[in-house]
Amino acid sequence: MATISMTVNGTPMSGEAEGRTLLSSFLRETLELTGTHVGCDTGQCGACTVHVNGKSVKSCNMLAMEADGAEVSTIEGQAGDDGNLSALQAAFQEHHGLQCGFCTPGMIMAAASLLEANPKPSEADVRKHLSGNLCRCTGYHNIVKAIMAASGQDVGAIAAE
Ligand code: FES
Ligand code: FES
Repeated sequence: MATISMTVNGTPMSGEAEGRTLLSSFLRETLELTGTHVGCDTGQCGACTVHVNGKSVKSCNMLAMEADGAEVSTIEGQAGDDGNLSALQAAFQEHHGLQCGFCTPGMIMAAASLLEANPKPSEADVRKHLSGNLCRCTGYHNIVKAIMAASGQDVGAIAAE
């Protein structure tokens, strides 16, 4: 076991981890930040997406020790300190971008990195960026709509599937 330290959502945190401990497990089980979901544990579904040093990563694809000393952002850091939802979270709520909600933390973290790099993405940009995030419920349409709405774009023209 080794002590792993990282700054998570602006707060320094540390805990013990084995060399094989995945970042997703470290966040959920050691730091008790269970907003990051684990769907497949094999890098395919994107439910575990977080940001490490500003980059979107699938946290089941990374060892906790690889994030030692890093700045990590998780879904818990999206809402403001006052509890108000972020623009993305509010748009997911308003445009029904979720049903069971299992994929939602990963979708929002992936979308946040898209909007940081591309503040006005096209529908095709959004769909391409989300290709590594799977949703078994929504058919993706309202997720795409929510992300485009969060970017301040008119989503009335996005046709229903
Ligand atoms: Fe990490 Fe599915 S749990 S990609
Ligand atoms: Fe259920 Fe996406 S809302 S998996």
